[in-house]
Amino acid sequence: MSFLFIADVSSIGVSYMASVALISESGSWKDLKVHVEDIKKTHLRELMADPGRCQSMMVEFDDILLDYSRQCATLETVNKLFKLAEDACLKEKINRMFSGERINSTENRSVLHVALRAQRDAVICSDRKNVVPDVWGVLDKLKEFSERVRNGSWVGATGKELKDVIAIGIGGSFLGPLFVHTALQTDPEANQYAKGRQLRFLANVDPIDVARNITGLNPETTLVVVVSKTFTTAETMLNARTLRAWIIDALGPSAVAKHMVAVSTNLPLVEKFGIDPNNAFAFWDWVGGRYSVCSAVGVLPLSLQYGFAVVEKFLKGAQSIDQHFFSAPLEKNIPVILGLLSIWNVSFLGYPARAILPYSQALEKFAPHIQQVSMESNGKGVSIDGFPLPFESGEIDFGEPGTNGQHSFYQLIHQGRVIPCDFIGVIKSQQPVYLKDEIVNNHDELMSNFFAQPDALAYGKTAEQLQKENLPQHLISHKTFTGNRPSLSILLPSLNAYNIGQLLAIYEHRVAVQGFIWGINSFDQWGVELGKSLATQVRKQLHASRVKGEPVEGFNFSTKTMLSKYLKATSDVPADPHTLLPKI
Ligand code: F6P
Repeated sequence: MSFLFIADVSSIGVSYMASVALISESGSWKDLKVHVEDIKKTHLRELMADPGRCQSMMVEFDDILLDYSRQCATLETVNKLFKLAEDACLKEKINRMFSGERINSTENRSVLHVALRAQRDAVICSDRKNVVPDVWGVLDKLKEFSERVRNGSWVGATGKELKDVIAIGIGGSFLGPLFVHTALQTDPEANQYAKGRQLRFLANVDPIDVARNITGLNPETTLVVVVSKTFTTAETMLNARTLRAWIIDALGPSAVAKHMVAVSTNLPLVEKFGIDPNNAFAFWDWVGGRYSVCSAVGVLPLSLQYGFAVVEKFLKGAQSIDQHFFSAPLEKNIPVILGLLSIWNVSFLGYPARAILPYSQALEKFAPHIQQVSMESNGKGVSIDGFPLPFESGEIDFGEPGTNGQHSFYQLIHQGRVIPCDFIGVIKSQQPVYLKDEIVNNHDELMSNFFAQPDALAYGKTAEQLQKENLPQHLISHKTFTGNRPSLSILLPSLNAYNIGQLLAIYEHRVAVQGFIWGINSFDQWGVELGKSLATQVRKQLHASRVKGEPVEGFNFSTKTMLSKYLKATSDVPADPHTLLPKI
């Protein structure tokens, strides 16, 4: 099954666009506000006692099971949320996204990351042009290039094979690829293809990150991939210049052509930097940075490490969810249900945070990636039409793999604040361990916790139960668990490249659903700009003070004092230094 979109509706008037009303003014929103009072009278202990309700709160698609029966919600709540989706024109908004309409209105761009994993014969248009052939043109080039590097027909300046890759990039040009790389590292198939190879990520402009990345690597066998949508991001460009210096220092200027390649939408700047445009891999402005892992941003470093065939499976997993998201009815649509439940928790029950708790060490970089996808997308103060929101959008995402998190912040989740939790479990471990004479195998031990924690949160433990256990009176309040703490569970069949793609797309679309309901633009990120421009002012001051001895001017008392102290304490830093690279 493939979806064929032949319509580009960017020029067609869509009735709901005429309305600038905020969703909070809709009848369904107001109805849900009233309904909160009913839900406050319930407890998950009672809700969980109704098997019919629980059965209705399970959805399966492509071997993924979502169980949301531990949400503080009844079937009535869920129906009201579907009504809210209707009032927010959710289905139309999803269609507009897939049709290539310029729904990122403040940047006047389509939002078409789904095209990055579409089948070769799919038709997905932006500005009436089918973008899928361009996508596959780059994928073919990536396949060819990564195979040449991997089979040793593309070698470094001294004729040695390039076994190690450093991918330089930050934010969306880093977090998604890092998540997928970390998840694939222990997958038996991917691991097999990565034998003898290393992939590292240089993101932070902190020189310590440079030191960590180059330590133990030989420039002769290293390929540097500069990943930047804009090719202007200060951190990435300084890191790229730093590693260019590292290569030139060891191998001379002509080595850059063999040891540095780029991924960007800005090919003129790639060339200006000194990278051969033939060694640059394009993507397009209709791919948001945080949604770019399925473009060359992720596909190049991951194909170099694992081979294109593995990465193609990852793309297929994401595509399966795209089709589901596009075509499944709302009541069976996993990203839609997840998005609506987040809206319920944030905007109605008033829980501002969400914990992402994968019971798989391979998913240790999933929460950091979703932090960007979710918080950069939905942390907005105005509606898509520019009106101040009378409610808070977005949520605070954080997480750690279980069981590590259990020995860290779960105390707060069990007895302190109410934080809706996403438990993500995997049926078949990537790396099973069985020990003779143990009660259960190691993965079963992990999964015992995955199955137990949601019930501990939902049911809690009452004072009466503790009294029956003859607990000393003075400890009863300390050992009481109120319960009624919502969670949902996602059970994946395994964690291969395909499943990783599925998981990624589920969360990407969930975030879009939330933004569509809140009526915000989930695809711009103006909030990151102010800090960047203030850093430019500081950078100029540091340069002027170091080179010309100029005094610190134009800052408030606090910043001026701090900057002056910093400059004074580092007065031994040379104003016109020779290149110095970390040596550890
Ligand atoms: O600072 C935020 C941001 O613009 C992100 O949205 C983006 O993923 C990141 O910077 C990196 O941008 P680029 O890929 O253009 O270097």
